[in-house]
Amino acid sequence: MEKNLKRDIAFAAADALIRDGMKLGLGTGSTACWVAVRLAELIKSKKIRSIRAVATSYNTRLDCERLGIPLTGLADPALDNQLDLTIDGADEIDPNRALIKGGGGALLLEKIIAYASREFAVVAGDNKLVAHLGETFAVPVEVVPEALSLVQDKLARLGASPVALRTPSNFAGPVYTDHGNLIVDARFPRIDAPAELERELKAVPGVVESGVFTRPVTHLFIGFPDGKVERR
Ligand code: A5P
Repeated sequence: MEKNLKRDIAFAAADALIRDGMKLGLGTGSTACWVAVRLAELIKSKKIRSIRAVATSYNTRLDCERLGIPLTGLADPALDNQLDLTIDGADEIDPNRALIKGGGGALLLEKIIAYASREFAVVAGDNKLVAHLGETFAVPVEVVPEALSLVQDKLARLGASPVALRTPSNFAGPVYTDHGNLIVDARFPRIDAPAELERELKAVPGVVESGVFTRPVTHLFIGFPDGKVERR
């Protein structure tokens, strides 16, 4: 998808949803990163004067630092353990708005922050819309390193094949997450009951979190190849 379209999708969501004084979760990825760019512009133009923002990854934190967006942490008492809104991308979106996330490896904090938010907005191109989760994407699962082999075996028994340890292309070794864990990409042929799978994955000892997200998506911003952005 074209860079300008990703920017337009994220800008549309930021302009429609971000309000002064909000407690805001900032997502991760090549679409959500533009939300931070827009937020920085809104702060600079003084349309937004106060915001309490939290980043869903180290990468988003770096973006915010570069852009001059002040960040806080989830333990900030002013958040009162709840955010108003999180805006994030997705790898797959099914007709009920269940998601696969974690293509960028940031699923753990993304889920903690999305599930702590009253509203959850997803920004994505129409290529992310699928009839069933699992159509094009494997489910990223964050795993405690010592439990890798046990978890791979258990996920295979749950119907995933392959269950591949994520490795970067330019480094001799696996990907380690922001929290020092590994990621396996578990290919489930077709996911008919995402909430059930989310629960089953979470129940496997050694699994920290999965990229199946079933909390309600309150706003969806979808971009199309002709440049249109639709709010659903
Ligand atoms: C990051 O870990 C992911 O959950 C991203 O939100 C997801 O992969 C979407 O990223 P893009 O907008 O770059 O496709």
